[in-house]
Amino acid sequence: MSRNGSGRRVLVSGNWKMNHTHYEAIRVVQKLAALLRAAPLPDGTDISLHPSFTSLRSVQTALESDSVPIALGAQTCHFEDGGAYTGEVSAEMLSKLNVRYVIVGHSERRALFGEDDEVVRLKLDAVLRHAMTPILCVGETLAQREAGMAESTVSGQLIAALKDRGPEALGSIVVAYEPVWAIGTGLTASGDDAQAMSAAIRRELELLDGDVSRSMLIQYGGSVTPANAGELLACPDVDGLLVGGASLDADKFVSIARSGR
Ligand code: 13P
Repeated sequence: MSRNGSGRRVLVSGNWKMNHTHYEAIRVVQKLAALLRAAPLPDGTDISLHPSFTSLRSVQTALESDSVPIALGAQTCHFEDGGAYTGEVSAEMLSKLNVRYVIVGHSERRALFGEDDEVVRLKLDAVLRHAMTPILCVGETLAQREAGMAESTVSGQLIAALKDRGPEALGSIVVAYEPVWAIGTGLTASGDDAQAMSAAIRRELELLDGDVSRSMLIQYGGSVTPANAGELLACPDVDGLLVGGASLDADKFVSIARSGR
């Protein structure tokens, strides 16, 4: 598969974080459905939507009852299938809601909720165990970038999560490069920076499995907007986008998803 050719697959994911009640979520999904009915996405472009847990069932019903071409996603999960973990939601529970993608290791989870590489790996195991696709987030802080440690930080996160996994598991993982300094700040990595790190990630994946690495999707995330999405998706090793703030608005999100062609 050529990386930027017509056979290219693109995945644009909307991470709603802790935004939108289930009422608001349904309204946004209805708007998305109308936009996609009026003009379908380009061939090869897929969208996933990651609402909060309280909206998952409503969004699932809205998507399925209208056959809206959007995959359901979640923002995290627990690594155990069940048990005394007050407040947590398991991967098994998500899979029964037809969740297809689960974000794992988002930098907000790592920084604010103490998720270390070991927990991230266990969560990845749980998502794969229930036949869903993990979106594994990696990325460096500003201090790490300024210290010249951006690549080594990302490579350490990748190795911790992915080492000793076979081709089948690797082939069903999406990697999202989200530089922490670009998240919610309005600062976006330039196309050159996004491409350089995505290529470094692909080299790291090649070491794990040469064949599989070529078809693995690498997303970029961090202050993506309709204005910068085209430049980012034009990068040969950027296969999609993980969008926060701009995905809360149906028009902006669809406009971003259309930027890949
Ligand atoms: P923003 O697009 O709001 O910067 O968020 C990016 C992000 O963290 C997506 O997971």
